[in-house]
Amino acid sequence: MSDATIPTESAGAAPTGAESGPTGAESGPTSAESAPTSAESWAAEPRPPRSALSDEATTLDAADRLRAKRDAFTLDDVIYLDGNSLGALPRAVPHRLAEVVAREWGELRIRSWEESGWWTAPERIGDRVGRLVGAAPGQVVVGDSTSVNVFKAVVAAVRIAQARGAHRDQILVDETTFPTDGYIAESAARMTGCTLRPVAAGDVPTAVGARTAAALVNHVDYRTGRLHDLPGTTAAVHAAGGLVVWDLCHSAGALPVGLDDHGVDLAVGCTYKYLNGGPGAPAYLYVARAHQPRFDSPLPGWNSHADPFGMASAYTPADGSARGRVGTPDILSMLALEAALEVWDDVTIEDVRAKSLALTDFFLRCVEDYVPTGRVQSLTPAAHAERGSQVALRCADAGEVMAELTRRGVVGDFRRPDVLRFGFTSLYTGFAEVERAARVLADVLAKEG
Ligand SMILES: Cc1ncc(COP(=O)(O)O)c(C=O)c1O
Repeated sequence: MSDATIPTESAGAAPTGAESGPTGAESGPTSAESAPTSAESWAAEPRPPRSALSDEATTLDAADRLRAKRDAFTLDDVIYLDGNSLGALPRAVPHRLAEVVAREWGELRIRSWEESGWWTAPERIGDRVGRLVGAAPGQVVVGDSTSVNVFKAVVAAVRIAQARGAHRDQILVDETTFPTDGYIAESAARMTGCTLRPVAAGDVPTAVGARTAAALVNHVDYRTGRLHDLPGTTAAVHAAGGLVVWDLCHSAGALPVGLDDHGVDLAVGCTYKYLNGGPGAPAYLYVARAHQPRFDSPLPGWNSHADPFGMASAYTPADGSARGRVGTPDILSMLALEAALEVWDDVTIEDVRAKSLALTDFFLRCVEDYVPTGRVQSLTPAAHAERGSQVALRCADAGEVMAELTRRGVVGDFRRPDVLRFGFTSLYTGFAEVERAARVLADVLAKEG
């Protein structure tokens, strides 16, 4: 890779101390073993002729252990690089949904809450999600949106920290967070008598202190695709006596997270991106087993009651992950998600991560080779230890470029004002598609510029 050809954003992409080390959640090689990161290392390699990259794509596709998984999805000739926003439709879903509607709702009606396992679906499906993010059973519950789960998690984290006795009145939030997390953390701070302190995600380990109640951090930045140091940050927040809440929207289903291994307190995430649960699919909440008895939900709905059908006027929280529930679960979306998760049954997240890094490396090389010099700037870190499963390219006319790409059958997305985002989904993205996407992108950039 030539940093000279695809310059990386200097402020945003420079590794900080906390972010540059191996993350522990990583299974892939570190930057030292991966693509060259300096102009010097690039200069030592002959630039391959164009056809060499398409030949290489053929070889990579032939060796791809996950290649057959593509058949588990409904796809067409469009090169779909937006699975980091909305995952593709798994083939198992329409049939399962039809069955749920016709048989479980249509015929069994109210009996399905028991007989079709509707009532316990949030915990049952939570355990399936848990397997993908490194959580042992009984700690993840599915339901509500990520936004709502951020609220539950942050308020509960602050309450746990404050109940420990010490005076803690600060919430740290990743300053480039997806906006909903920031808005909700601000409201949670007001509710709990805290102030909200935005800091760069990489600076959380040094910003955390005796007054920190909780830190809310994104595992992967939604805009740049930067992977943050989950083990190191979690350890630093713990050393200061606080709790950490991770937003896993852009990492679950894309890379190993290791929630239990790294002692994470609470985590939230959505299921409509790399988990392919469908538009508006329910989100999830992880509460580490050790915290469950003290998890004091700010939304103690009847579904999280120890005896929901006792209809008592006083609230007694349920044990376990059910304490994170609120109201009646959205069963149709939830069971669509359950069917979507079947594609993971014979897949390891380590294989997904290895392919994801190979896809993003290959895309960056193709862009570098095909795109006119200086036309785009990569916001995505070159180092594997700092990269999620997307590539973000900055260019001034990104809106027009993405519109034209979409017209030509290459779908990524545009984030204002100037970012092209391309998501790489190991379960269904192939290397030949990646090479073709880069070729179309180069053509569009040459014409639009
Ligand atoms: C990182 C991140 N956090 C939170 C959200 C918000 O999720 P929801 O709209 O499901 O509440 C998103 C949505 O894309 C996201 O990417």
